[in-house]
Amino acid sequence: MGLLLGLIVNAFLLSIPIGSTLGTLFKLRPFRNDIIQQPKDHNHIIVTSACEEFHEFAQNKIGVNYTVNSNEILPETDSTLCMTMTTFENNTYPSNSTAPQFSFTWEYPFTTANVSSPANETKPLIHAFPQARIDSSVIPLALEELGQLNLDFTWTMGTGNTIAPNTGLLPLGAKEVNASVGLDMYMDPDQTMAGDAGNATFEMIIFFAHFGLQDPVGFGNGTVVMTDTLDGTDFNLFVGRNANSQNIFSWVATQPVGEFHSDITPLFNSILSLRGAKGLLVDIPTYTDFLGYVGFGTQSYSSIGNVTFWVPRLSVDIQKLGT
Ligand SMILES: *[C@@H]1O[C@H](CO)[C@@H](O)[C@H](O)[C@H]1NC(C)=O
Ligand SMILES: *[C@@H]1O[C@H](CO)[C@@H](O)[C@H](O)[C@H]1NC(C)=O
Ligand SMILES: *[C@@H]1O[C@H](CO)[C@@H](O)[C@H](O)[C@H]1NC(C)=O
Ligand SMILES: *[C@@H]1O[C@H](CO)[C@@H](O)[C@H](O)[C@H]1NC(C)=O
Ligand SMILES: *[C@@H]1O[C@H](CO)[C@@H](O)[C@H](O)[C@H]1NC(C)=O
Ligand SMILES: *[C@@H]1O[C@H](CO)[C@@H](O)[C@H](O)[C@H]1NC(C)=O
Ligand SMILES: *[C@@H]1O[C@H](CO)[C@@H](O)[C@H](O)[C@H]1NC(C)=O
Ligand SMILES: *[C@@H]1O[C@H](CO)[C@@H](O)[C@H](O)[C@H]1NC(C)=O
Ligand SMILES: *[C@@H]1O[C@H](CO)[C@@H](O)[C@H](O)[C@H]1NC(C)=O
Repeated sequence: MGLLLGLIVNAFLLSIPIGSTLGTLFKLRPFRNDIIQQPKDHNHIIVTSACEEFHEFAQNKIGVNYTVNSNEILPETDSTLCMTMTTFENNTYPSNSTAPQFSFTWEYPFTTANVSSPANETKPLIHAFPQARIDSSVIPLALEELGQLNLDFTWTMGTGNTIAPNTGLLPLGAKEVNASVGLDMYMDPDQTMAGDAGNATFEMIIFFAHFGLQDPVGFGNGTVVMTDTLDGTDFNLFVGRNANSQNIFSWVATQPVGEFHSDITPLFNSILSLRGAKGLLVDIPTYTDFLGYVGFGTQSYSSIGNVTFWVPRLSVDIQKLGT
């Protein structure tokens, strides 16, 4: 027998909320199975599924841990937000920064951001940004101490409930999918605030794909502040403030990037270099500010039917300068 014993697939527990007057409203509750068969080698592969709100922790014994979070921003009745994560019982992955495989399946209606805007200029509101967040003692880390941030991933997005081997633009278009794929990071002069997505002063998002009508924060009239090339792809920078007055730096790939392997610290250097630039309506971080949050996931806006985002490979390797 090989090591790949015991694929444990969890079931969903279905329950109707008591007192609900909405016949259509039902909730899928997270449910975890215990390992039924006691293994001798502790090398089980454990498949965990959960819907609605989830915060699934996965330990990497030799490095950084990850937490897969739902991050639902705007719930809707009759919508779907589910995750499946494949962890190793031995908590030992190929590298010290390898995340467990995970996928999200979601469905949301198109919710108009501004009901007064003309039909040809309608933008959707974001419903959720489910992501795998690194949960590590490496951060918070002052930007001046950031040596490398090596990002390595593969993802696909497809329609329906099952993972797609490839991302097809035609099927996504046919189901009117509005979604993005991004690495979400927060920074702040204060170490604790840097890890608090709601309160951090600065947010930097790298959009590796952008399907739909939504614009990144700071898009405005489409003015590109600068362009950097990473791993062979150009990323355009847009800057602006969100409704929460946070200063947002959005790097948008000029074509979808389904596989990536590169150090992204040049993007930090680029935004730090904007200090003193005229006409930008944002504050610029400094070298002494802390990076306190890094998460990779998909922004879910709208679709007709389920969309499944799959991440079979993810590694976020943050190295302190001089190590
Ligand atoms: C941990 O478990 C995984 C999955 O079964 C297996 O591929 C890997 O070889 C195991 N690692 C060690 C060090 O036993
Ligand atoms: C992971 O390993 C690399 C070298 O193999 C090392 O530089 C890095 O500090 C390690 N990271 C963690 C979080 O252990
Ligand atoms: C909504 O759209 C209308 C019409 O284009 C515009 O006048 C208004 O400023 C917009 N509201 C917001 C909050 O952007
Ligand atoms: C929407 O239509 C109006 C009126 O036809 C036009 O002035 C405007 O430029 C259009 N907007 C876009 C984004 O195409
Ligand atoms: C990962 O999680 C384990 C278990 O909670 C913890 O003991 C360890 O310190 C964590 N590792 C890091 C790098 O935070
Ligand atoms: C963080 O923001 C939330 C609202 O988003 C607020 O309730 C909370 O007090 C803030 N925390 C701090 C420490 O300012
Ligand atoms: C985004 O949503 C709109 C409205 O549902 C839809 O017409 C469009 O096809 C979607 N996708 C893209 C790529 O624009
Ligand atoms: C676009 O926005 C930028 C920044 O707000 C501004 O400097 C520029 O004049 C605008 N361009 C046009 C054509 O409106
Ligand atoms: C969408 O996905 C959810 C969760 O897996 C599932 O319960 C639901 O039946 C799916 N909807 C369709 C139309 O397949």
